[in-house]
Amino acid sequence: MKTIVCDCGTGFMKCGFAENEAPIVFSTAVGRPVVTRRDVFRSENIQLKAVYVGDEIEEIAAHTAVDITHPIENGVVRDWEGMRLVWEYTFYTRLGLEDLSECQIMLTEAPQNPTANRERMCREMFEHFGFKRVYFVLQGILGLYSCGLQTGVVVDSGDGVTHIVPIFDGYASRPTIRRLDIAGRDVTRQLAKLLCGRGYAFRTDQSLGKARRLKEKHCYVSQDYQTDTKLAKETTVLVCRDGGVMLDYERFAAPEILFSPEKFGKESSGLPAALFSAIQDSGIDMRRELYGNIVLCGGTTMMQGFSERLEKELALLCGKLRGGPGTAKEFGIRVRSPRERSSSVYIGGTVLAGVISEIESAWVTDGEWRRDGAQALSKFQS
Ligand SMILES: Nc1ncnc2c1ncn2[C@@H]1O[C@H](COP(=O)(O)OP(=O)(O)OP(=O)(O)O)[C@@H](O)[C@H]1O
Ligand SMILES: [Mg+2]
Repeated sequence: MKTIVCDCGTGFMKCGFAENEAPIVFSTAVGRPVVTRRDVFRSENIQLKAVYVGDEIEEIAAHTAVDITHPIENGVVRDWEGMRLVWEYTFYTRLGLEDLSECQIMLTEAPQNPTANRERMCREMFEHFGFKRVYFVLQGILGLYSCGLQTGVVVDSGDGVTHIVPIFDGYASRPTIRRLDIAGRDVTRQLAKLLCGRGYAFRTDQSLGKARRLKEKHCYVSQDYQTDTKLAKETTVLVCRDGGVMLDYERFAAPEILFSPEKFGKESSGLPAALFSAIQDSGIDMRRELYGNIVLCGGTTMMQGFSERLEKELALLCGKLRGGPGTAKEFGIRVRSPRERSSSVYIGGTVLAGVISEIESAWVTDGEWRRDGAQALSKFQS
């Protein structure tokens, strides 16, 4: 039996066979060509299709305008037709499978995934794709497993959503989970907006792709926003040029939305405040262990300066609570940044699959699904 691990995010799919440590990664977008000038495609020997998925979109976008949609919003599937196309592309095109009846699939879930959503995913896997067994697991738990921990608090900041998940002995404590609908895509949009303000054109979906690449290469999290802003106004030390675009204070101003969303008109707490409240809401006897085991995962945490700023602000919040300033070390705060954190949910999935792949009772089987329907899913944490 082949085991597939599938971490399907708002922005990117990370998937592969459980024995592969590195996932296949591609965008979870669906693109439909708007202009269908068949003669152009014929002369360039390109096969024209109604729908393109993932990496195929960039290739076709070089020849025609493409209407791009994203089936997942803030970590939750909203467009099932589009989602089915992404899965078909994943299983048949990228993993090269034809018959899924001898395969089992581990699907990751964002916290607070509605039950109806999980049921629909399961129905798709059994009834449309014909999988033999299905397993659901929370993304945060896998982020923790990937660095060999059972207890800790995971800060997972991806493309569409940021989750803070306190976990004890492998169990997520639901009431303490925090969710912020601010993540990497907001940083990209913010960067595009700031660059538009200086006369660059960054309005279409395609040019947002360019803004994303600039962000990944040049943006960083400021350790002192006021000082960096002053420095940017008075000097040119922060300026860099890339592909005809000049970036200046935008490099740290765009990521600031994660830490101080109120500065950008967003009604959301910033990441440090949400992390602080998640830990403080956990049992008093657990807090010390949580402060000492903060684990970053998700692509947005790859940004330079992210962990240092989080540590620093958390120490400030602890200082306020305890009535005196102190360093992160004095408060026992330790933020871990595993090197592979942009795909650590997938990696944690391969670790878990190594343990449970032969244990049939851990999975929902096609027989159980036929017999018990949605009831069969009660064996997973909810
Ligand atoms: N080096 C980097 N610097 C800044 N951002 C990065 C870097 N690498 C990846 N990202 C950003 O991380 C995001 C993708 O991360 P990830 O794959 O974890 O998200 P996702 O799982 O698709 O989304 P979500 O978990 O929110 O549903 C994108 O916004 C991407 O631009
Ligand atoms: Mg994710």
